[in-house]
Amino acid sequence: MHLSRLLPLGFAAYVSAQALSAVLSTNSATLSTLSSLLATVPDLVQTLSGAQNITIFAPSNEAFSKLLARNPRSAELMRNPRLLTGVLQYHVLVGRTPASEFSTTPKFPTTMLTAPFANVTGGQKLEIAMVNNTAMVFSGYKQAAMVTVPDVAFDGGVIHVIDTVLTVPATPGQTAINTGLTSLAGALTNAQLADGLDALVDVTIFAPSNDAFEAIGSAVGTLDTQALANILAYHVVSGQVRFSTDLLTAANPLLVLTAQGGNITVRRENGQLFVNSARVLIADILTTNGVVHIIDNVLNPSNTTATPNAAATTQAPAFSGVSSVVDSPFTAGIVPTTTFVPATVPLNKGAAAAVPTAALLLAGGAAMLAAHF
Ligand SMILES: *[C@@H]1O[C@H](CO)[C@@H](O)[C@H](O)[C@H]1NC(C)=O
Ligand SMILES: *[C@@H]1O[C@H](CO)[C@@H](O)[C@H](O)[C@H]1NC(C)=O
Ligand SMILES: *[C@@H]1O[C@H](CO)[C@@H](O)[C@H](O)[C@H]1NC(C)=O
Ligand SMILES: *[C@@H]1O[C@H](CO)[C@@H](O)[C@H](O)[C@H]1NC(C)=O
Ligand SMILES: *[C@@H]1O[C@H](CO)[C@@H](O)[C@H](O)[C@H]1NC(C)=O
Repeated sequence: MHLSRLLPLGFAAYVSAQALSAVLSTNSATLSTLSSLLATVPDLVQTLSGAQNITIFAPSNEAFSKLLARNPRSAELMRNPRLLTGVLQYHVLVGRTPASEFSTTPKFPTTMLTAPFANVTGGQKLEIAMVNNTAMVFSGYKQAAMVTVPDVAFDGGVIHVIDTVLTVPATPGQTAINTGLTSLAGALTNAQLADGLDALVDVTIFAPSNDAFEAIGSAVGTLDTQALANILAYHVVSGQVRFSTDLLTAANPLLVLTAQGGNITVRRENGQLFVNSARVLIADILTTNGVVHIIDNVLNPSNTTATPNAAATTQAPAFSGVSSVVDSPFTAGIVPTTTFVPATVPLNKGAAAAVPTAALLLAGGAAMLAAHF
């Protein structure tokens, strides 16, 4: 689908740049909801109006209607100027990024969202990529938004209209609970690591799927808190946010030091990314403090030499002598607040992304933001 075909009739995109307020008011048929929200946060308007070389992802009126229909609580959030400011800051890139800079290889540009809503050095990130010839933006829980009107110039940079309000990334704990990684969420709680993980700054987490925990089910019951914590810490890289693009271009194989003290080995084989013997299933889910990559095996800190069979669809468990169980381990009492289906974008290229159909947009961001007030 070509972007130009999505231009609403009468959308005024000038060749010479206008003030932000002029662009918003001229295009009120598309952007009046955003305009009225901005009117409630004058400090942010002043920042944006005085900025140079920024990129604003402007949710259309329909994007806000969609959000309100799916999550009525978002209205309450938007009446709180501090929370609204946080949400809107997440829609602004520090830097001018015209649509021509979206490529099939994803990029992770920095937004204006910082502490207390994000614990990422330099500011929270978004993922931008061309998927099937469409410029797309992926936010918290890897929720997809589509650019419907690209490259509207204003005198501080460029505006892209998007069809979905972006979701502010949630903590690793909330992200695990609400994206179906309930075994990991429960395991972190059992190991008393959940709060500590959420409080880290700049983190990369390799998150085993529920199937991965089921595959070693016979072993998990025998683990005490200390042993479980040791295994989970081996899935965490502290002090480094390493996106798939970075891991795909780094040395191959690449040794990365974990919070457990041992190294994991990241490998590229057949265009896929592996960590020890685990395959990365969904890469680059943004969190408050970094990034989560979902993997198909639980990593074993006592088996650092486990290597993948890239030709196989499933990998042998990295724990010897285990057998699988049917029920997902550690999930007792783990109740999602909502369910987000992360988009799956093939590694390093944007083709054939599965765009989620029914997600409760912004709910996680709202919960996260609200937790601070
Ligand atoms: C904005 O970007 C232009 C072109 O890249 C550059 O020449 C200019 O110095 C930038 N201005 C600021 C304030 O960063
Ligand atoms: C950021 O980290 C601090 C402690 O390091 C923590 O108290 C705070 O809740 C974290 N912020 C978010 C948004 O998770
Ligand atoms: C981890 O790998 C680095 C090389 O990247 C090496 O210097 C270090 O000794 C390794 N640490 C352990 C615990 O194996
Ligand atoms: C290490 O992992 C491999 C699978 O990659 C498995 O076959 C082997 O039994 C494991 N070894 C130990 C000591 O857990
Ligand atoms: C991308 O294209 C493929 C093949 O034409 C299609 O199956 C898929 O649904 C498309 N994805 C999106 C997000 O449009």
